[in-house]
Amino acid sequence: MKIAICPGSFDPVTLGHLDIISRAARLFDKVYVAVLKNSSKKNSMFTIEERMELLERCIPDLTNVEVITFEGLLVDCARENDAIAIVKGLRAVTDFEYEFQMALINKKLNREVDTLFLTTNAKYLYLSSSIVKEVAKNGGDITDFVHPAVAEDIKNRIHKEIKG
Ligand code: PNS
Repeated sequence: MKIAICPGSFDPVTLGHLDIISRAARLFDKVYVAVLKNSSKKNSMFTIEERMELLERCIPDLTNVEVITFEGLLVDCARENDAIAIVKGLRAVTDFEYEFQMALINKKLNREVDTLFLTTNAKYLYLSSSIVKEVAKNGGDITDFVHPAVAEDIKNRIHKEIKG
């Protein structure tokens, strides 16, 4: 069984993430979507549990995909789950330098795991979790950026945050 891991912060999950996850699910027998627990990003908007719940709500049809959390090194999470590949989306040249460095470090740390980059669907080239939060915070429409099953929840949550 070929197993892959799609890691990220998913704060919150976007249509760009879901595009990569569903394409990985076609390429591999099993895909673990691994949500980073000990995120050093200080301004997280959603808790780990909320991020997992939002993700799970978007992927009921992807029966070979499972949402998990991890802390520490991604390659250790890959090893623990018998994954042979880390699958990530590449949006633009701006992503490349960081992702290339991560891929090389991860290969150095665990030679058994390869990093695969899927070219982001052109529709989602501009999309990121930060953009979704920024647009929602400022009253913009995020329905083209996130899955319909979670759009309302994300909007409400973000508005609540702003009001305090
Ligand atoms: O969605 P993000 O924030 O771009 O995801 C980044 C993530 C979770 C893939 C990355 O931060 C990560 O792999 N963190 C775990 C620590 C690790 O293994 N780092 C690489 C070796 S230093």
